[in-house]
Amino acid sequence: MENRAIGIFDSGIGGLTVLKQIKKILPNENIIYYGDNFNNPYGNKPKKKIFDLSVRIINFLLEQDIKIIVIACNTVSATCFCELNKIFGHKIKIMEIIKSGVEAGFLSVKKNKIKDKNIVLLATEATVKSNLYQKYFYAKDPQINFYAKACGDFVDLAEKNLFDAKISFDVLNNELEEFKSKKINSLILGCTHFPLLKNRIKKILPSVKIVDPAEFLALHTKEYLSKNKILNAEEKPKIIFYTSGDVKKFRIIANEVLNFNYPPKIFVHKILK
Ligand code: DGL
Repeated sequence: MENRAIGIFDSGIGGLTVLKQIKKILPNENIIYYGDNFNNPYGNKPKKKIFDLSVRIINFLLEQDIKIIVIACNTVSATCFCELNKIFGHKIKIMEIIKSGVEAGFLSVKKNKIKDKNIVLLATEATVKSNLYQKYFYAKDPQINFYAKACGDFVDLAEKNLFDAKISFDVLNNELEEFKSKKINSLILGCTHFPLLKNRIKKILPSVKIVDPAEFLALHTKEYLSKNKILNAEEKPKIIFYTSGDVKKFRIIANEVLNFNYPPKIFVHKILK
């Protein structure tokens, strides 16, 4: 038994969608979450800036008592996972999300009755530019038609807690218009903020299979902890949240997104920007 926490981070509230899956699959684990809401969004920042911010967050998490780091952010995973792993990999295991997204997307295409292999990736500008999803998909199956679309606006809608607002529907409807006439097999939510808008996306593209990479990432995290015999068995595990942004706003969204059926211990701390 190993009661040190799982450290999870994202540019803001998006990583809560990953935390939710991890909590479901690993209910006895202590968790420390860091949301860099002050610096959000990351998706339109240069790679060097994303890397510097990530280094700071990882150093902060390492000062806490953690046993593994989960990068709950496609943008960080796509732009600088290799570099981060080079620096920190000897100290701690770091999980990234892109490979889980590719695995989940590929499985969805295989299971789908639709023969057309049209896949849509919705992600941030930085993730789309990295070409990583595209590269992994083509390596698995060169027959796949891959459409990658940068939808940075969606991040802001989620950060502002506008999941159900009419404006979200209008923005999404407009951005997804081009896919309505295409026979899309599967759509990958390649940004951890996007599952928060999933219901809206479903309404706009009702026949498309929507893929959230978070479930596979949670499963892989469990596999790692289990294989290395560092699972926890805590009956009342704690979740501690840190945000560089507004604590009140963070708490409201965290409660809304996580919606646990028992009151979790939610501590939110503001840290220096
Ligand atoms: N949630 C993040 C992702 O998965 C990044 C959103 C942003 O800060 O632009 O890519």
